[in-house]
Amino acid sequence: MSPAGRLAGKRAIVTGAGSGIGRAIALAFADEGAALLCADIDEVGATETAALVAAAGGRALAEACDVSEAAAARRTLAKAERELGGLDVLVNNAAFFATRMPLGELDEALWMRTMDVNLSGAFLMSRHAIPLMARGGGGSIIHVASAHGHVANFGQAAYCTSKGGLLMLSKGIAVDHAKDRIRSNTLSPGGIATQGMAELYGGDWQRAEKEWGAPMHVLGRNGRVEEMAAGAVFLASDESSFMTGADLLLDGGYTAR
Ligand SMILES: NC(=O)c1ccc[n+]([C@@H]2O[C@H](COP(=O)([O-])OP(=O)(O)OC[C@H]3O[C@@H](n4cnc5c(N)ncnc54)[C@H](O)[C@@H]3O)[C@@H](O)[C@H]2O)c1
Repeated sequence: MSPAGRLAGKRAIVTGAGSGIGRAIALAFADEGAALLCADIDEVGATETAALVAAAGGRALAEACDVSEAAAARRTLAKAERELGGLDVLVNNAAFFATRMPLGELDEALWMRTMDVNLSGAFLMSRHAIPLMARGGGGSIIHVASAHGHVANFGQAAYCTSKGGLLMLSKGIAVDHAKDRIRSNTLSPGGIATQGMAELYGGDWQRAEKEWGAPMHVLGRNGRVEEMAAGAVFLASDESSFMTGADLLLDGGYTAR
């Protein structure tokens, strides 16, 4: 933990912090001096992330939290108030990925779960974070959306809809709560080299690069979780103090053509 970091003194919750992009954001925030609450439906993953932060000299707590449950969201925010003394940054990063299939064949339950976690989960966490942030003088909310909130992908209508919805949820928070000195922005990744991405290609990272990273991105590769974390640090920090209701598109040119 850096006492002079860009997030020194800030208190942050990262949802979906147990793996992938969320874990990288938690580690980067801690490296910049923030104290963290790592929330995830996967308690083991959240605990591992908190341990990694601690091993690097930072401060992190872990919390088992299904963001789609109002009671769990309230409990997580109450823990931040109690254990961290308040909240400056919320990262709504948790996501549910349904099996890919055309909308005309999609199980109704998969549509509902996608909306419950990806969109309503971000609402619930924000709903209970905003009063806490407002009492502390403001804050920054970051919603991890996707390039697929901007353009559709085959077999992913539910996911794309949930991410497009996040873009507007974020704008709604921005206009409602600028008066409370709360900023709200989205961060939209392109294809990122995570375990989940590799699993789509049979666990073969090289195949994921060859079949998705190289052809689909102007920059000719998938992104790295650290590149997403760098964007999140910017949005969390006072460096982005004149940015709200906006999207930070970190997609390697995926949507550029
Ligand atoms: N990896 C990519 O290529 C990519 C691209 C665009 C956007 N994204 C977005 O980035 C974010 C992180 O994705 P990732 O690739 O790191 O995936 P990931 O599967 O590694 O991480 C998602 C995390 O969310 C947690 N989670 C799932 N449901 C939850 C719930 N109900 N409550 C709390 N936690 C829950 C999981 O346990 C997991 O730890 C997601 O919002 C995803 O949509 C990823």
